[in-house]
Amino acid sequence: MSSIIFYSTKKGFGKKVSGYIASESADIVEIIDQKDYDTENYNNVIFVSSVYAGQMKKGFKDFFNKVAENKKENQKFYFVMVAGQEENYKKFFNDNLPDKEKYIDDFFYAGYSYDFEKMNFFEKFIIKKIVKIDKSKEDFRKENLDSLVKKIG
Ligand SMILES: Cc1cc2nc3c(=O)[nH]c(=O)nc-3n(C[C@H](O)[C@H](O)[C@H](O)COP(=O)(O)O)c2cc1C
Repeated sequence: MSSIIFYSTKKGFGKKVSGYIASESADIVEIIDQKDYDTENYNNVIFVSSVYAGQMKKGFKDFFNKVAENKKENQKFYFVMVAGQEENYKKFFNDNLPDKEKYIDDFFYAGYSYDFEKMNFFEKFIIKKIVKIDKSKEDFRKENLDSLVKKIG
């Protein structure tokens, strides 16, 4: 079984999550300027995205739509959400990728990292005000990903 992970990150937590899922059994590709990718030979295609102000990166959404169009019948697609608000993670998917839930075989919530070292002044201000924390905090929900790791292992 072969697997590929496509991730979109701003501060790096999505990359860490992807590395955990992949261990040694999957290819990992960061979505930056990627327009399309030949996924035909993969049994499992995994998408990892974080959200900022409820939004995924446009490049990631465009990429997802392209790859989803080419989904094969024998392939599984999995979506891993990186976000501070666990309660909204499915909503973030549906708001950003309307009517695309049908392509996803299973959803996973990976947790979050608020890294004050990597935030600019404005981001720190927002996080202090809204999340009410003033230093770095991480909640990596590895246990939520274990069934995915098993599926692709
Ligand atoms: C400025 C800012 C805005 C954010 N907005 C949201 C949000 O609207 N909803 C949410 O659930 N998480 C939000 N987050 C949390 C991020 O999704 C979280 O920090 C995530 O781990 C970032 O992943 P990355 O390092 O892969 O970019 C925000 C974080 C920052 C710094």
